[in-house]
Order: sequence, then C-alpha cells, then structure tokens
Amino acid sequence: MKKLLLLVLIVTALVFTGCAKKETQSVNEPQTPAAKSKWVIGMSQCNLGEPWRVQMNADVRLAAEKHPELQVVFKDAQNDTLKQQAQVEEFISAGVDLIIISPKEAAPLTPVVAVAFEKGITVIVLDRRVLGDKYTCFIGADNKKIGKSAGKWIVEKLGGKGKVVELKGLMTTTPGQDRHSGFRDGIKDSGIEIIFEADMKWLEPNARKEMESALARFPQIDLVYAHNDPGAHGAYLAAQAAGREKDIIFVGIDGLPQEGQAYVKQGLMSASFEYPTGGGEAIETAMKLFNGDTIDKEITLKSRVFTKDNVDAGGEWLSE
Ligand code: FRU
Repeated sequence: MKKLLLLVLIVTALVFTGCAKKETQSVNEPQTPAAKSKWVIGMSQCNLGEPWRVQMNADVRLAAEKHPELQVVFKDAQNDTLKQQAQVEEFISAGVDLIIISPKEAAPLTPVVAVAFEKGITVIVLDRRVLGDKYTCFIGADNKKIGKSAGKWIVEKLGGKGKVVELKGLMTTTPGQDRHSGFRDGIKDSGIEIIFEADMKWLEPNARKEMESALARFPQIDLVYAHNDPGAHGAYLAAQAAGREKDIIFVGIDGLPQEGQAYVKQGLMSASFEYPTGGGEAIETAMKLFNGDTIDKEITLKSRVFTKDNVDAGGEWLSE
C-alpha cells in the first residue's frame, strides 16, 4: 500500500512539473506567422532608368523604414523581361514573405507571378498589370481615366480642333494601352486629327527621334500628347532643335515635382497628369496583409492635373 501511495505521489509530481515546464516553454516555441518579428519583401522593379521608377523605390523605402520588422530586398530588372522573370523565380526560391513587382510587360510576366501566387506567396502588382487574376492585389492609378481626361483637356485647349502627335508608351504594357484608348475616347467627336503616332517605349531618346520624324513630315503640329513626361520632354527637345518649340503645346503624364511639375512651371509643358507611384501604398498594403487584415484586390490611386495656373496650389484632382 505504501509503495502504491509513493508511486501515485511520484506520478502526480511528474505530471505537475511537466505541465509547468511546458507552459514556460511555449513562450520560446517557434512563433506563428502572424506573430513573426521579421518580414522579408522582395521588390522587383522593371528598370531604374527613369526618375519615376527611382521615385517609386524611394517611396517604398521611406514607407518601409517606418516598420523596423520589414526588410525590403530591391532588384532592378534593367528593362529586361527575362531578367525580371528570373528575379521573381529567385524570390520564390529564397522563400520571401511577399513579392512586390512593377512588371515591364503584361503577358510575359504573367506566368511567373502566377507560380509565386499559387505557391502561397503574397504578390502585390504595382503600376503595370499582369494578365488574369493570379496575384493578391493590384495597386495603380486609372490610366484610362488619365488618358480620357488628357483628351478632354486637349480638345478644350485647342478649341475643338487641331493637329496632334501621339507618342505612346510601350504598347505591350497596360498603361500604354489604357492611356491610348482613354485618350481616343476623350477626343472622340472632336475635330482633333492624329497626324502621327509612334511607340516610344516610355523612353525620352526614342521620343526625341520619333518627334524628329514628325517634324520633318509635318509643317504644322499643334500639340504633342506623350504617354509620359520623359516622352514629352524628348519631343520638346526635338522641336527646340528645329526652332519650332514655341509653336507646339506639350502634354505628358507622371507629374513628379522634380520632372513634370517643374517643366510646367518653366513653361516647357502646358499640362502634366499625375501618375502616383503607389510605393507607399504597397508597403501599407503589405503591412495589412502581414497583420491578417483583409484588403481589396484592386486599389485605385487618384490623380491630379498640373497646369501653369494650378501647379503652385498643388494641381487639381481629376473628376470622377
Ligand atoms: C517609367 C514609366 C512612367 C510611366 C510608367 C508606366 O518606367 O514609363 O513614366 O508613367 O512607367 O508604367
């Protein structure tokens, strides 16, 4: 009987000390994802050759600095689609917690984004779209609306008619396609005539070359609508070299303070439509996702138009 009592006492003591031990241990056990103290974000930027993209990375960095638990690994694809595909693959194998991609082109980058998404990695697509819906969230401004507003603004500026050159962004990208179709919608039923159009692939030197051809062919050009401000600036330089910059109105898109807004202030461009980078919003959205909050799959950013009359007052928001 004594032996049995001793055994019961030993077993009871073991059970209690065991439990107590387990409770204190649980504090040191591996943390659940929701309580992770370090999050790694892989950011694949399609190129850093233009001020707008440098600004996007700076906006991402600034927002991320407010969260010490975030580490952002930046990669620059140098305007090379294959390089950008490889970067996403590298992020997948490194097992990052989240990928932000600002893709060079839609179709060729769709499959690799889908692979990451299907492997359970959260993917935020920023500014240019991929095709389909195999990503977590898209953040960007409404390029159709920007194009349409630019079209309407131009119709008004030219009094309903005039000869216009359209310098397009890379047409395998969704902003290029939408800024074109939106613009055509904005000028429909007007007397605006598109006398020359070319794909300058978002690049200032290309825009300058294309504008040289347009100037050589057309003695009268009333206005240049370029899908971004570097394009408008390239066209301006070509017109200036031909001594015709005073006869032509230049309109572009991006509206960075140090670029489009500055050109408007200098009187070199008549209007620049804002295209926000979304870098800060991407980090805010990533934080919400890490905290387990639900987010919208589509986040649309607002845009302003900057003209000589309103630029000092901070521009004017595009109407709905
Ligand atoms: C920079 C850029 C911007 C433009 C955006 C469109 O690469 O060309 O000027 O607004 O990309 O995706």
